[in-house]
Amino acid sequence: MKTLWIFAHPESRSLNGMLRTAGIAALRAGGHQVRESDLYAMGFDPVVGHGDFPGRDPGGRLLVGAAQEEAYTTGRLAADIRAEQEKLAWADTVVFHFPLWWFGPPAILKGWFDRVLVQGFAFGVRDAEGRTRRYGDGGLAGKRAMVVTSVGARASGFGPRGIHGFIEEVLFPLHHGTIWYTGMTALPPFVVHGADRAGEQEAAGHRAALCARLHRLETLEPLPFRHEAGGDYDADLVLRDHLAPGRTGLAVHSA
Ligand SMILES: Cc1cc2nc3c(=O)[nH]c(=O)nc-3n(C[C@H](O)[C@H](O)[C@H](O)COP(=O)(O)O)c2cc1C
Repeated sequence: MKTLWIFAHPESRSLNGMLRTAGIAALRAGGHQVRESDLYAMGFDPVVGHGDFPGRDPGGRLLVGAAQEEAYTTGRLAADIRAEQEKLAWADTVVFHFPLWWFGPPAILKGWFDRVLVQGFAFGVRDAEGRTRRYGDGGLAGKRAMVVTSVGARASGFGPRGIHGFIEEVLFPLHHGTIWYTGMTALPPFVVHGADRAGEQEAAGHRAALCARLHRLETLEPLPFRHEAGGDYDADLVLRDHLAPGRTGLAVHSA
């Protein structure tokens, strides 16, 4: 297995830093190849900018969308973006590892999505009939991705009726809107709760649990999201009435 481990935490001596070191060591001990993108250590620039497309429209409009695709297909994206795309293309498994900050990934990882997952590479890829491949298909089809994250709150608060919202729904934008949208299957997330209060004993427990989870990485069943092209949605991309009848909300997009 070839795993790309993307780490978005500024402090290597944090709980997450310790989990990252242990997790990668566990994968390597299991015979897996691992490459890393340690975004803070790399000084990764998370802001889409003019430098992303050198030589194109200097000082003028910020070029996104179709212009990103043109820069991608003509090999003119900035070197740091191309390096990340090369690592992604190499990997069959991707780990997105971050502490939950304001209900999502730290901005440095959000910016990695903005700059690296460009049109023509990760999304906006068309099939032979000219249909855009999305949600269960796309430029990153065939890869599997797992979120490893930690939260300050207790597990109960992120439970199905918890005040913070059900963690599966909190992570829906990432799982469904980024991972599944680009064609990757999303594996069940590994979530450390109460991370700010973890003492040495708890941290050791989290480390052991993560290593056990990674041991099963190859056989984990993905989250059961519906394929856009699987017939569950109508021409307006609305879930057909006979599926999850009478229900609305994020959960209806899981079979
Ligand atoms: C900017 C910031 C935003 C945070 N937002 C959340 C949040 O939305 N929900 C939550 O449960 N914890 C939140 N936390 C707590 C972090 O998730 C927690 O500090 C982290 O998981 C601890 O891991 P670490 O010791 O490796 O940093 C936030 C912390 C920071 C610094």
